Amino acid sequence: MDLIVNRSKSHKYVLAALLPLALIMLLAFAAPRKAHADGSPRVIEITAKRFAFSPNQITIKKGETVKLRITSEDVIHGFFMRALKIDEDIQPGTPTEITLTPQSAGTFLTICDHFCGANHGNMNMTITVVE
Ligand code: CUA
Repeated sequence: MDLIVNRSKSHKYVLAALLPLALIMLLAFAAPRKAHADGSPRVIEITAKRFAFSPNQITIKKGETVKLRITSEDVIHGFFMRALKIDEDIQPGTPTEITLTPQSAGTFLTICDHFCGANHGNMNMTITVVE
């Protein structure tokens, strides 16, 4: 009998100790999200693969800073858009990061400008910048 009573008491102590711990963990998980909203740019993942970018269209707000993280799944591709001053080679294996703050609204066709095979000329995507 004594043993059972003691056990249930120690259970209560464990719960009392776990509750603040759970709260701390919740706060810890909430913190990075807060930091993200405070200023670190939104990251947009893009995959390059013969002969397409995926997604093939993204939308950014004018004046919004975003980080494009482009990964090639096969060979070297290009990522070129003159008006937005983007001109990068996308090496397979290592993601290429481009930080971008578009200053004018519009629809911008972005092309692969590194020859990557037969259908290279049709490899492109659209960056839409909205007001
Ligand atoms: Cu991809 Cu050219």
